[in-house]
Amino acid sequence: MCGIVAYVGYREACPLIIKGLKRLEYRGYDSAGIALMAADGLTVYKKKGKVADLEATLEADTLSSHIGIGHTRWATHGEPNDRNAHPHYSHSRQLAIIHNGIIENYGAIKQNLQQKGYVFHSDTDSEVLVNFIEDIRKETFCSVEEAVRLAMQEVVGAYAIVVMSQDEPGTLVAARKGSPLVIGVGEKEHFFASDATPIIEYTNEVIYLDDYQIAVVRDGDLIVKNIENVEQSPYIQHVELELEAIEKGGFEHFMLKEIFEQPRSVKDCFRGRVNADEGHLVLGGLREYLDDIAKSERIVIVACGTSWHAGLVAEYIFEELARIPVEVEYASEFRYRNPIIKEGDVVLAISQSGETMDTLAAIELAKSRGAIILGICNVVGSSIPRITHAGAYTHAGPEIGVASTKAFTAQVSVLTLMAIAVARKKGNLHEDTFRRFLFELERIPDKIEKVLKNADKVKEISELFKDARNFIYLGRGLNFPVALEGALKLKEISYIHAEGYPAAEMKHGPIALIDEDMPVVFIATRDQSYEKVVSNIQEVKARKGKVIAVVTEGDKLIPTMADHVVEIPVTHEVLMPLLSVIPLQLLSYYIAVMRGCNVDQPRNLAKSVTVE
Ligand code: G6P
Repeated sequence: MCGIVAYVGYREACPLIIKGLKRLEYRGYDSAGIALMAADGLTVYKKKGKVADLEATLEADTLSSHIGIGHTRWATHGEPNDRNAHPHYSHSRQLAIIHNGIIENYGAIKQNLQQKGYVFHSDTDSEVLVNFIEDIRKETFCSVEEAVRLAMQEVVGAYAIVVMSQDEPGTLVAARKGSPLVIGVGEKEHFFASDATPIIEYTNEVIYLDDYQIAVVRDGDLIVKNIENVEQSPYIQHVELELEAIEKGGFEHFMLKEIFEQPRSVKDCFRGRVNADEGHLVLGGLREYLDDIAKSERIVIVACGTSWHAGLVAEYIFEELARIPVEVEYASEFRYRNPIIKEGDVVLAISQSGETMDTLAAIELAKSRGAIILGICNVVGSSIPRITHAGAYTHAGPEIGVASTKAFTAQVSVLTLMAIAVARKKGNLHEDTFRRFLFELERIPDKIEKVLKNADKVKEISELFKDARNFIYLGRGLNFPVALEGALKLKEISYIHAEGYPAAEMKHGPIALIDEDMPVVFIATRDQSYEKVVSNIQEVKARKGKVIAVVTEGDKLIPTMADHVVEIPVTHEVLMPLLSVIPLQLLSYYIAVMRGCNVDQPRNLAKSVTVE
């Protein structure tokens, strides 16, 4: 959470940083700020609200600077207001800091500094950190770089920081522990950012800073050191990200673009991995561990949010095909229990961003107990893939809308491939069934395309229900996690209360809520529990609930009972979630737009949750 951008080089820093912050707004948008080395020295400009609000207050002609730092905030310590916005000055105003993360021992450090006469102007842990750095400088007469290094030895928590100093005007000092930090290396210029998106317009050469590393740009030269002050030779990577992948490309919102990208993103996910003609299924990154997975007695999945829902889908598929027991855990719960993990257990972490703090902590815990850790992530080079033993990228491309859509279908795609590969390894899949799966998988992108052709139908339904105050989503088997995901999408972007339930559980509580004002979304595709779901639909209709049903093409029965139906093409039962979730994504999108909500940046949320 929180996005940071910094620049030093020959370009105008202010517009470059503002543009970069806009690309990182998915990480938080409570306030924004920028610090520049302007004509009258180190100057901070900051404001509650979005980056555009800050931009509107900046008068370009006074801001010429070739060095600067900027921040877009998701509030942790202190309410979102101008005071708590970053950057923060130190007490003497000699230093300014941007920070993504949380300093856990800030209270003790603050008390100590207050006793020394430091006065604080915000409620943030970040202001404490910049004053701590200032205090170290004062006590030891050292450089900013050295003060940051010494501070890192004392602070507990997670951070990606960049510090600027009035008396070292051409220098930027950055450090990382736990929160992401990417350095862009250009010709006579350097960039720092929370991810590569603010950088790729200028350079594709990047360094992913490691934990406990410090990077300093001084007089145009970059040096990376570890916390022991030993110089490191960082690995410069070439990122493949295209600019168009992070722009809206004619769509009104990123979310809509990402929903419509799914035929392509799922295809990208299968590329080089699935070939039905040759009977070929390969997950390169997991090849070495396939035996271990096949032999494992159980698989534990850890994830949060939408990724957790993808994990639930995987539970059904792995148990069905590979016959390995699977437990799906909220990473946040797993890490604070005393989970039973044995040497050789397989722990599978799923994360779009690869940065979710709870998932990272769950991995560390499982690793310390000897588990094999595998990761399914979307963002290449992010923290999770760097600490797992092996994994597979989802290749969905950058997902910018806060509500996850194409990342979910890509996660489910990879997990399905994994389950099929493990089932085959275990000898559980007959050659014909295996081939049939591959054949069906290759047809999924076209079938998603077909579902998207129903977008107008979903839009009409959305118009009818946009003012509802509650929604219930019901499904059985593999469609139960899809129901959860549909409900999550709706509540996070339209602020309508929505609950997902296994359809059979309805009679144990939610049925009491059903009346003529209650829309109930059934994911009622043709599968082994179809008849049961039909009965559940009748139970809802008997209580005058309004039924919206996602059904398999050609279904003649449900359209006679439901108020509205959306059809999806026939596919293998196991692959159904890849299609059935799409109308639910569209429903939440259209309802949110009709209610005037900011779909890409829903209130209080952030896409990359780097706090507990
Ligand atoms: C946030 C996002 C969700 C996401 C969840 C887990 O809550 O808003 O869309 O599913 O974090 O994130 P991850 O990056 O680990 O998948």
